[in-house]
Amino acid sequence: MPPMNTNALKKQAGETAAALVESGMVVGLGSGSTAIFATRRIAQRIRSGALADILAIPTSLATEAAAIELGIPLTTLAERPRIDITIDGADEVDPAFNLIKGGGGAHLREKIVAQATERLVIVVDESKLVTQLGASWAIPIEVIPFGWGAQARYLEAIGATAKLRLDGGAPFQTDQGNLILDADFGAIADPAGLARQLEARAGIVEHGLFIGMARDVVSAGTDGVRHLRR
Ligand code: A5P
Repeated sequence: MPPMNTNALKKQAGETAAALVESGMVVGLGSGSTAIFATRRIAQRIRSGALADILAIPTSLATEAAAIELGIPLTTLAERPRIDITIDGADEVDPAFNLIKGGGGAHLREKIVAQATERLVIVVDESKLVTQLGASWAIPIEVIPFGWGAQARYLEAIGATAKLRLDGGAPFQTDQGNLILDADFGAIADPAGLARQLEARAGIVEHGLFIGMARDVVSAGTDGVRHLRR
């Protein structure tokens, strides 16, 4: 059998996780190219009658548009402050299930949804599993446009190489109209400590480190799908 391409692995991980959703649940819908497979499968299960009474909360405008197109009933955190399960992707996952997220710039809404979630399930292809966060992925950091250069200099001062994220030559804008600095710290010895340091800085709206939030990781590799639990 030829080796599966990354997209096929993402599909397997997303669809496997979608099976964890049960009727009556409030579901957080993640963002990105892996989570979309879970969202599509949830929609399929609703259409087939396998799932009933689902209300979903999307983690980005792109996911919201996809959910509307797929006919998934939506709600808001104001109406349903407690989410039973969220299925979302990640850019890196360490052995303690700490994550780097925000490759698509959606990590602020993703973290708000994750914090309201009982069971955060992360779906990845196996290339995202790392021994130490940061070795091959920069931390996306959402900053407000005012004084963003000062945040870039701050990140450099604490050991990162920080680059303003661009989109077709212009600064990338988040769903909130903010900017993203991709901060490359190299391998991060103390992700929780770095997260606290970033949270203390005015102008940084949210960083892409998700510490101690994920309960399950569904990882697809050439040897099949593994469901890891914490
Ligand atoms: C969105 O901003 C991100 O947090 C994604 O969840 C993450 O980048 C994973 O995306 P892919 O599944 O597209 O790799």
